[in-house]
Amino acid sequence: MTSDPLLALRPWEAPEVTSWGRLPMNAVDRRSGALPLDGDWNFQLLPAPDAPVGGPWSTAYVPGVWTMQSIQGADDLPQYTNIRMPYAEFPPLSPVYRNPTGVYERTVDIPAEWTGRRIVLQVGAAESVLLVQVDGRPVGLSKDSHLAADFDLTPFVRPGERATVRLTVVKWSDASHIEDQDQWWHGGITRSVLLYATDPLYLADVTVRAAYSGELRVDCRVRDAGGALPAGWYVTGELDGRLLAQDAEFDRANVEDERVSDFLGEVRLHTTVADVRTWNAETPELYGLSVRLHRADATVADTSYHRIGFRDVEIVGRNLLVNGERVFIRGVNRHDFHPLTGRTVSYDDMRADLVLLKRFGFNAIRTAHYPNDPGLYDLADELGFYVVDEADIEAHDHAHEIADDPRYLNAFVDRVSRMVLRDKNHPSVIIWSLGNESDYGANHDAAAGWVRRHDPTRPIQYEGAAKLDWAATDDASDIACPMYAPLEDCVAHALSGEQTRPLVQCEYSHAMGNSNGTLADHWAAIESTPGLQGGFIWEFWDHGILQDVNDGRPVGRGGAGLYDNGVAAPGLRWAYGGDFGETIHDGAFIADGVVFPDRTPKPAMYEHREIAAPVRIECFRHEGIVLGNHQHFRGLDWLAGEWELSLADGDTLTAPARLPDLRPGETAVVPLPFEVPREGGEAWLTLRVTTSRDEAWAPRGTVVCLPQVRLREAAPVPASPENRSVEVDADGLLVHPLLTAAPTLSLWRAPTDNDELGGMALRWRTWGLDSLVRKTVSVREDDGRVTVVAEYAGTLGVVRHRQVLTPVEGGVRIDEEAELSAEFDDVARVGSVFETVAGLDLLEWFGQGPWESYPDRSAGAPVGHHSVPVDELFTPYLRPQESGGRHGVRRFTLSAPDATGLTVALDEPRQVSVTRYRAEDLTSVTHHDRLEPRAGCVVHLDAAHRGLGTASCGPDTFPSYLVAPGVHRWSWTLRTL
Ligand code: GAL
Ligand code: MG
Repeated sequence: MTSDPLLALRPWEAPEVTSWGRLPMNAVDRRSGALPLDGDWNFQLLPAPDAPVGGPWSTAYVPGVWTMQSIQGADDLPQYTNIRMPYAEFPPLSPVYRNPTGVYERTVDIPAEWTGRRIVLQVGAAESVLLVQVDGRPVGLSKDSHLAADFDLTPFVRPGERATVRLTVVKWSDASHIEDQDQWWHGGITRSVLLYATDPLYLADVTVRAAYSGELRVDCRVRDAGGALPAGWYVTGELDGRLLAQDAEFDRANVEDERVSDFLGEVRLHTTVADVRTWNAETPELYGLSVRLHRADATVADTSYHRIGFRDVEIVGRNLLVNGERVFIRGVNRHDFHPLTGRTVSYDDMRADLVLLKRFGFNAIRTAHYPNDPGLYDLADELGFYVVDEADIEAHDHAHEIADDPRYLNAFVDRVSRMVLRDKNHPSVIIWSLGNESDYGANHDAAAGWVRRHDPTRPIQYEGAAKLDWAATDDASDIACPMYAPLEDCVAHALSGEQTRPLVQCEYSHAMGNSNGTLADHWAAIESTPGLQGGFIWEFWDHGILQDVNDGRPVGRGGAGLYDNGVAAPGLRWAYGGDFGETIHDGAFIADGVVFPDRTPKPAMYEHREIAAPVRIECFRHEGIVLGNHQHFRGLDWLAGEWELSLADGDTLTAPARLPDLRPGETAVVPLPFEVPREGGEAWLTLRVTTSRDEAWAPRGTVVCLPQVRLREAAPVPASPENRSVEVDADGLLVHPLLTAAPTLSLWRAPTDNDELGGMALRWRTWGLDSLVRKTVSVREDDGRVTVVAEYAGTLGVVRHRQVLTPVEGGVRIDEEAELSAEFDDVARVGSVFETVAGLDLLEWFGQGPWESYPDRSAGAPVGHHSVPVDELFTPYLRPQESGGRHGVRRFTLSAPDATGLTVALDEPRQVSVTRYRAEDLTSVTHHDRLEPRAGCVVHLDAAHRGLGTASCGPDTFPSYLVAPGVHRWSWTLRTL
């Protein structure tokens, strides 16, 4: 086999060359009826594109990246960098001698019945340069790792005969410099390869415009492989059985303007659908559109099928409107990711992603940071998501040089225009994005100009354009779409009177590790501030790759089922940056999603679900409960409800709820379903809202939200003193049969990713909070009650802590006080920590739950009676850190199966955590699989606990969630069961 003569042009160093021999992109789906070429291909990995092919062949699976497959002789593993390019060469260059290049080869039997037809090869996606050869003859090349490339093979193959197809994929190129997205670097063919045949007379493109009014316009472009179009061809269209009319006005105008061509046929079909069922993310109504191209004798030469939706999107003033409504964008950023295949995602995988997002209240996706797999858009249309479709342009490391570099001009326009041409008929796509983090230059304006002309029906956004001046009106962005902007800046902008365009953050609430603090505060502001419309959480996935700890290799496609509930099976782990031996990498910054690598939702998802609740309890008045419909388009008939009354001093009572018939924005009063006893402790009313029928994304009975209101305040319950004494040891530490470590002061937590990257953890370590030395100052006994004063010394000074231990009926009351001097202006927590004997494996509590919650992430955890095995309380964040907390705990019981154990009553709702790990256990290892659970429980109860914030990338928590210096007091009662 000769190597490809195209290689002689060194196209991987030529940004001006975006393709050669590639067919124009279009919206005609050729996947059905095609000959699939997926499966094992002969494969060899060359050290560089100009190295000779000739080594032994092994096999590689297509679609798939070679970096995730254990292929003999192919030792190129995944590498993670965020901003930095993994090599030093300046654009457009890449490493000359170390540029892994995969050569894929296989034979294909060209069907004999394709005689006379136009035969096309489609490569779904390859990164980063694709060269195509058939039987040793060069066919073409393509760049853009996230869009398909089609090549006309008709001149190269003969139906009924066998052809050898070779796909050469060069990993590093000029294109890599504009594909510098924050994700793993891979190499290979990531989407399906197929061969399809059309009649020489074919539909070159179909453009659908379906408006909210019911008006439908379908523009068809027709070509013939032979050049001139044959006489007498025509196009018909059918929408769910009704025939479309050919627009004679359009034809006449074309004739008058002398625009009729022998080589390009143009037809417009139209109709207006009366009583049209319109599309929006809540009720994604779709119609089936078939377009048929006929020869003069009425036989069908070509067909194109589309699922279309009637909807409008427009910007009016500072509002982004869908069908005239100012919709909230409850979005997430989504990469094409899979822990076994890297970048290859199946239709079922994507459906599972979107189903999960719907169940947790999301209604929008930004395809960060490139056009996602085509199946995603079909699913978004069907399940109902607003999509910001983003072009594959991120020049992060060399942004400034590239944005205005004329050598890259073609690539910018090519990538943006091909995305638009592919995805323009999806009702879900409401905004085009010009890419990510590439500064702002003339290349962006060129691409924006192309879109504005080609598709005037959708707005454009680009963070880099709008970033310097949110109120500008003359840049390449119709939306101010900042990332991680402080909430107060957004609100101030909206109130300034200067706002000119909608403000929807393209990224906010960075979900790295234990995060997403202040999400509820963000949404309270968004929903109450005209001009703010939402944003896209960063991001959906933790991109952990399933790795075999023994050989250090990715497990790959065979690993299905080797993980559960966010945790990898023994001997395996979720790899992040550096785990494949890379020296240049960005560590765990790749694990920053709201779901684990296996799509298990993190606790933050429950917070989001509640914030997005379609029906809410507005307040409780004496006539009853005020309910409101917070959707934009839908009534409440798709929902069912059940009331739950949780009594602190009793059980949980339930009663059926009838949801009122409310249109969006309306409220109604419904009677209180329970007689609440006059006396007693706290009482909380929860409306458990579920789907009343099967939805495409949720079977009937799926929980949608759990809005809640407090009906009665807590009443203090005095504990009666006892005539016993409390036992303490010589250091004043409580002696208790169920405790293996007595309660001491804790000011430290295992730093979260936010604590680390935000700089707080560094300060805490500098202050010595991770290794405080306790010194007993005095122990005094007085009438059975013991007062212990201790000092905890760090490097910043001493924290004085006092415990008063009073015997009470059945146990001991502990009144504590700690005084933090002004220098300790931001500690992780102030509270008690103790450890229990083994065997107390069930936690039951009255407070917020059942899932993990923290002071600034607790809106989604209703107050009630909860019960969870201790081993399930901990959240297995990839890099171990503070985890497993429960907010607003009033009392809890830790018990063994024989009902022995201990119970704690707290003076006020407090932050509590019960885990198998000390903070130092968590900080001593880098991966979850290295944690050794302790047999007993490590219990923290905090007078104050710092919020989580999002400082790993973006704003920290708000001052109101910080732990202030000064005197902290808390008290609790410990009893044995
Ligand atoms: C943004 C960027 C994302 C990701 C994120 C941090 O700046 O657009 O790609 O890097 O920060 O996780
Ligand atoms: Mg970046």
